[in-house]
Amino acid sequence: MYETFENLIQGLLEKGFGSVDNWYNAEELDCLRKSLMTHYRQDDFHAAGIGKLENFRKVGKVRSDQVYWLDRAEADDCERQFFEKMDAFILYLNRTCFAGIRDAEFHFAVYEPGSFYKKHVDKFQNDGRRLFSFVSYLTEKWEAGDGGELVLYPVEEGMKIEPLPGRVIFFRSDLLHEVLVSNVQRLSLTGWMKTF
Ligand code: OGA
Ligand code: MN
Repeated sequence: MYETFENLIQGLLEKGFGSVDNWYNAEELDCLRKSLMTHYRQDDFHAAGIGKLENFRKVGKVRSDQVYWLDRAEADDCERQFFEKMDAFILYLNRTCFAGIRDAEFHFAVYEPGSFYKKHVDKFQNDGRRLFSFVSYLTEKWEAGDGGELVLYPVEEGMKIEPLPGRVIFFRSDLLHEVLVSNVQRLSLTGWMKTF
């Protein structure tokens, strides 16, 4: 587990983002996908917005995904397992990098075909608490042509990342990035690690 954590941290330090495959094993991946789909069928999801508090807006021109915020108190078994692993990662970050993370928030996201999220940063203009972004992919399979790649901009021309099942991407929340139009239903579990 610590090796995986180290890979994410080293990647972020060396090239602006960390990436590991198989963050979840096949069983965890299946379980989380099922739990996402259960919430989705129950209509627990809503159209995602941008901005915070008085800045909050739902803007289909900027992003067209739908999200469901995970709730620790209501977590099912695999969501609880997910939280435990994230807690371990946060502890590791605080111990080894003095990251000062005090809080975290996570949502499932569904991009229906045609959905995207234009260039943005995750840190709000009126709330600087988001330090790190964590994105993981739950789609059953991804093939070239399916679209929905994540493009990160640690360099001008951008780095395109395939949203492969079980893959995790980790970067600072002030890094510019975007999600290209997805041609298939795209499932993810995304979150932020925050300071006070
Ligand atoms: C986000 C985001 C990236 C992705 O939700 O803020 O940028 O690949 N997600 O899903
Ligand atoms: Mn983002």
